[in-house]
Formats: sequence, C-alpha cells, structure tokens
Amino acid sequence: MSEAQQASSLKTAIEKHREFLFPAVALYYQEPIALVKGEGEYVWDTEGNRYLDAFGGVLTVSVGHANPDVNAAIIEQTKTLQHISAIYANHPQSDLAEKLAEITPGDLQKSFFTSSGTEADDTAILAAKLATGRGEIVVLRHSYSGRSATALSTVGHSSWRPIPSQVAGIVHARAPYCYRCPWKMTPDNCGAACAEDVRDVIETTTTGEIAAFMAEPIMGVGGFIVPPDGYFERVEEITRKHGGLFIADEVQTAWGRTGDKWFGIEHTGVKPDIITSAKGMGNGVPIGWTIATAEVADKFAGPTFATFGGNPVSMAAGLAVIKFIEDNDLRTNARVVGDYLRGRLEELKEKHAIVGDVRGRGLMQGIELVKDRETKEPAADAVLRVFEETKRRGVLIGKGGLYGNVIRTGMMLNSTKDNVDELVAALDAGFEVVA
Ligand SMILES: Cc1ncc(COP(=O)(O)O)c(C=O)c1O
Repeated sequence: MSEAQQASSLKTAIEKHREFLFPAVALYYQEPIALVKGEGEYVWDTEGNRYLDAFGGVLTVSVGHANPDVNAAIIEQTKTLQHISAIYANHPQSDLAEKLAEITPGDLQKSFFTSSGTEADDTAILAAKLATGRGEIVVLRHSYSGRSATALSTVGHSSWRPIPSQVAGIVHARAPYCYRCPWKMTPDNCGAACAEDVRDVIETTTTGEIAAFMAEPIMGVGGFIVPPDGYFERVEEITRKHGGLFIADEVQTAWGRTGDKWFGIEHTGVKPDIITSAKGMGNGVPIGWTIATAEVADKFAGPTFATFGGNPVSMAAGLAVIKFIEDNDLRTNARVVGDYLRGRLEELKEKHAIVGDVRGRGLMQGIELVKDRETKEPAADAVLRVFEETKRRGVLIGKGGLYGNVIRTGMMLNSTKDNVDELVAALDAGFEVVA
C-alpha cells in the first residue's frame, strides 16, 4: 500500500464523502453519521450507536433492514443468474409482471422495469405522449418526480430545480395543500377549488388537449400533503374531458404504505391508466416500475431498452417483498400501526404549540412545524433542532416540504406499536427542546 493509500484508508467515510462526492449530495445532521449495519427496524453507525430507523432510507426499506426472506431471494438469484439485460426473457421478471397485473387496480396489465423512480416517471410520461399523440402534461406544484430533464421539469419545488425547465409542455396546477390553502379557503372547499384549477390550467396554458395528468396520491417530498376526498375523482373527470390519461406516481405511496390497499390511489375512486413505483418495491434494491393498460402499453413505440430493467436480482427482490407483505398481512399492519402512530402524533399536537399540522395515511405520517399556529410561519430551524435531539435519542427521521418544516416518518410496514412509542418519545423530547 502506498503512503497515499494508507492515509486514505484512515479517513472516515464522512471525510471521503466530503472530499470525493458532489457536494450537492448533502448529509443530514450537524455531525453526519455513517451507517454500517441494519437489521429489522434498526441501523448502527460506525461508533456502534443503534438507531430506530423511522425514515427507512426515504420510505424504501419497506419490510425491514436485511429482511431474511428478501435477502434469501436475492442471494439465491445472484448465485443463479445475475444479469442478462432486457433482450432475453427471465423468470423473475415475467413472474413479477404477472403478479403486478394481478394486484394493481383496474385494467393495468403491462409492465416496464427500470432502476429508479425517475425512470419510472419518465417512462410513464413518454407512454402517455405516445398513446395519446399529444405532448402536454399537467402536474402539481409541490410535487417531486426525480432528476432527469423531464422529471426536473415536473418538480414543483424551486429548491429541487437547479436549472429552469428543459422540457416544454409541462404545466403546474395548484396543489391541494389544504393546511396552506392556496385560495385561503377552508379544507372543505379547498380541494374542489384546487381540482378546478387543473381545469383552468388546461384551459389557459395548454392546447386544451393534454397527454396526461400526473400526481402522487400523497405528495411525499412536498411534506405528505394529502389531497382531500373527492379531489382526485374530479381531476380525473377533468383530465378525461381534455383527452388525458391519469398517471399515479406511487413511488412513495405503494406496497401497502398507506394501509389496507396496495396502492395509495386505491383510497380514491380513480382508475389510473398508468402507475409508477420504485423505492419500497425492492426494499433497497434499485428498481423502477411503470405499469399501463394494454391499450397504452401497446402504443409505446419500440424497440425500447433499459440495461438494468428487469434485472433478475431486482425482480427476485420485488417478488419477495410482495410475498412478505402478503404472508404477514402488512397492509393491515400499516393501517393498524399507522392509526396508532397518528393518534400518538395528535397527542403531541395537543401538547406542543410548535406542531401546526399532523397528516398522512397509514405508515406515511408527517408533522408540520410552525412558529405560530395563527400565522403558520414555517419553523424549518425547529425541524433541524428536533433532528439533533431525536438523533441523540437514537431515532432517525426525515424532513420535507417546500419550506423544509415538515418532519416525515416512513416507518417500515412491519413496525410495531413499541417502535411507534420509541419514535414518539424521541419526538416529544425534540419538541420540548424547541418549545
Ligand atoms: C414521488 C416520487 N417520484 C419519483 C421519485 C424519484 O425516484 P428516484 O430517486 O428513485 O429516481 C421520488 C424520489 O423521492 C419520489 O418521491
């Protein structure tokens, strides 16, 4: 080993991260941590500290770190056939596609696999354009779709947009963010007004004939914004009237996360033409997925190809995740434990004035912090201080929202009420610090 190599091996993962990665890859916490091990709901850092992982690698570790069943499937597949590319069929891909056609709502039938949520959404947008022969897409402000030119052009947060829109024809309607109603209405009529904004945006900023409307059933990066009942049904009606398809971006909301159902959109009466997902589908293995009706998929001009799409190892992981969720009835668990979490968070809201709003569904629950409940001035600095306190108490949480003032929790689908109590105790202590 050369002297330079020796010196390098003594540096910590964090020092190397700072020296050799793009600085834009920002780390959480004043003193960032490097994680070395995960098991179930917990992770360990280089110092041997154990943390309850209540963010799951951004809602991605869906069924527990190092899940033995998922790992066994990955290891077995790795030993058998690791990669062949999409130009040959493979059993795990075909089996997963068959399973997905079975568990998705409505007539969704044909899948296209990639490696990330960004690619899944890009594929959906392209599919909608090809199927309709139109070029315009309606999305929502406060949304997040990823990092490609198309995805960045759909993102509804200036903070996640390093350059102006590169793709023409993407228009942004108001998000049904009823806690901060864009029309200063009550939650009862905010949703209806926001749905009409989709119509207005189509009528005033497009040709009037769109390719699709795309939205997250619960807006993840946006701070777990939950559109009110009836919103999506009305938007679907408007979308179809203007010739568009309905795309549900389920990158965060799928796989039982929202409780009882496989997909977040199933809590509404909408029948999507396309669903996308990624994250929790592989429990950490890179995977992206777009499913469409046969009518839409058949119009996707070929040939098309994604080198890692349908990779047998990712596909085996996806099958194992779905089986684990089914075998352990985790969709029900997400509802039961999620309701318990919600109740405990509402208690925190009663106790701490800093908590302006608690919202979400199932095991996707967020807490919006405000300096004053009347003015709703965002308390992003308080979120950072709560982060430090919860970390000190061995609990990892996430954040989001346009103003960075929403704490996001994305506990694993097999979390218990004891895990919830551990999270809530840490949050309670964190809110005391910022009181
Ligand atoms: C709703 C949603 N769509 C798309 C993406 C992009 O996924 P990826 O980071 O895997 O490209 C994300 C990522 O957070 C997301 O939350």
